[in-house]
Amino acid sequence: MDPYVVTIDGPSGSGKGSLALLLARLLGFSILDSGAIYRLAALKALNENVDLQDEQHVLGAIRTLDIHFETGDELTIPFLDGKDVSQQVRDEKTAAAASIVAAYPSVRTQLLAIQRDFFSPPGLVADGRDMGTTVFPDAKIKIFLNASSQIRAKRRYKQLIDMGLSANIVDLQNEIEIRDERDRSRAVSPLVPASDAVIIDCSLMELSQVVDLVMSHITDINNQRF
Ligand code: C5P
Repeated sequence: MDPYVVTIDGPSGSGKGSLALLLARLLGFSILDSGAIYRLAALKALNENVDLQDEQHVLGAIRTLDIHFETGDELTIPFLDGKDVSQQVRDEKTAAAASIVAAYPSVRTQLLAIQRDFFSPPGLVADGRDMGTTVFPDAKIKIFLNASSQIRAKRRYKQLIDMGLSANIVDLQNEIEIRDERDRSRAVSPLVPASDAVIIDCSLMELSQVVDLVMSHITDINNQRF
């Protein structure tokens, strides 16, 4: 079978990352966490103290972006300028900065090639906001994963606490809703399902049920004869 891409788009905390990880393992594919690329770019801009409201300054800071990922026991470890930044990259300040810089068209263009380079045989599972619409518009399988903001805030809270970080669930829900609104309303690559995406609301589903559903969809598509 030809190598192919599975895209998983959706709002923050919908479970895209966990789904992508499990699918990549089951399929033997590599994985792209595109949110991490935006977070690393935002962290670089924060480290350089540039004015996040100024697109040209942000672009200047990320023109030469030295990032790479290393595979740890369970998690992928992000590096910026040669340093492990797993902690900084996950915090809400970086997330908020990521959603500001991600609204700039020139920043999105700058990060496009980095994301596409993740594709290699036998295939890629790519998660983000515009994987199916902009980065991999020809992907064979496209999923849009949604869940209520309340459920997503609860999941994010648990993730942060499990990572040993502090969190407040009400603040998290507010931040998630602000970030969703910014992601949905931006002019370039807004958070919308691709026209050919399968939309799954997983508010009341276990992760294993979502994985089964998507795997059976992949099997159906792979078995289709044209
Ligand atoms: O997925 P994650 O929460 O890590 O993404 C952080 C931010 O990066 C999102 O709120 C969004 O603004 C931006 N992003 C994006 N396009 C992507 C992935 C992330 O705009 N493909």
